Amino acid sequence: MASRDDPAPRAIVESGYDRIAEHYLAGKGPLDPALLDLLEDLARDLPDGAPALDLGCGAGVPVTQWLAERFAVTGVDLSARQLELARRHVPGATFRRADMTAVDFPPASFSAVVACYSIIHVPREEHPALAERIARWLRPGGRFLANWAIGAWEGAERDWLGWGAPMWWSHYDADTNLTLLRRAGFTIERAERLAISGETWLWVLARRP
Ligand SMILES: C[S@@+](CC[C@H](N)C(=O)[O-])C[C@H]1O[C@@H](n2cnc3c(N)ncnc32)[C@H](O)[C@@H]1O
Repeated sequence: MASRDDPAPRAIVESGYDRIAEHYLAGKGPLDPALLDLLEDLARDLPDGAPALDLGCGAGVPVTQWLAERFAVTGVDLSARQLELARRHVPGATFRRADMTAVDFPPASFSAVVACYSIIHVPREEHPALAERIARWLRPGGRFLANWAIGAWEGAERDWLGWGAPMWWSHYDADTNLTLLRRAGFTIERAERLAISGETWLWVLARRP
């Protein structure tokens, strides 16, 4: 099992995305209507120009791009190559190369936070502390949208999708994911098992009261 002192999983994820960024991007289509619906709920009531954070923003397509059409977006990612692509796709956003479990922002910095397909790569024993940090970075009333797995699992694939690099994931089950969000102070507004691009994940829209 990974621990905070064990750099191996992070190194696998960082170098993996550096190597497969173009493959991952090539597989991205337009925004799925179900994800668009969640994003519209996340953005509900927010003024144009509100500060939004995209954790594990990847190449910025399509979610960072969508957010940047209305909001002042900060994108955070571990992978230098992903960020190179994101800067190209979303020139108006601000990007930081950082680990989302180590980066810090002042309390109440953001009106919205998203993490699409990214917390699934963070060692699961760090998920509770990460949820607490995200709650702290949000303004009261701000919303957090992310996806988690439905079943508990942790492990790696040697050659993910035949793209020539290993990858690593870490998951709790759906109930545990919801419990840790509630413990971090979030109210769950939506929790849905959605099949998007053929993969079913738990999508959660949570609100800081
Ligand atoms: C599957 S991609 C998703 C990218 C984008 N959110 C999307 O929906 O297309 C996961 C991204 O999360 C990033 N990531 C994984 N673990 C991270 C961490 N601890 N801190 C920051 N970024 C991380 C990876 O580098 C990768 O770019």
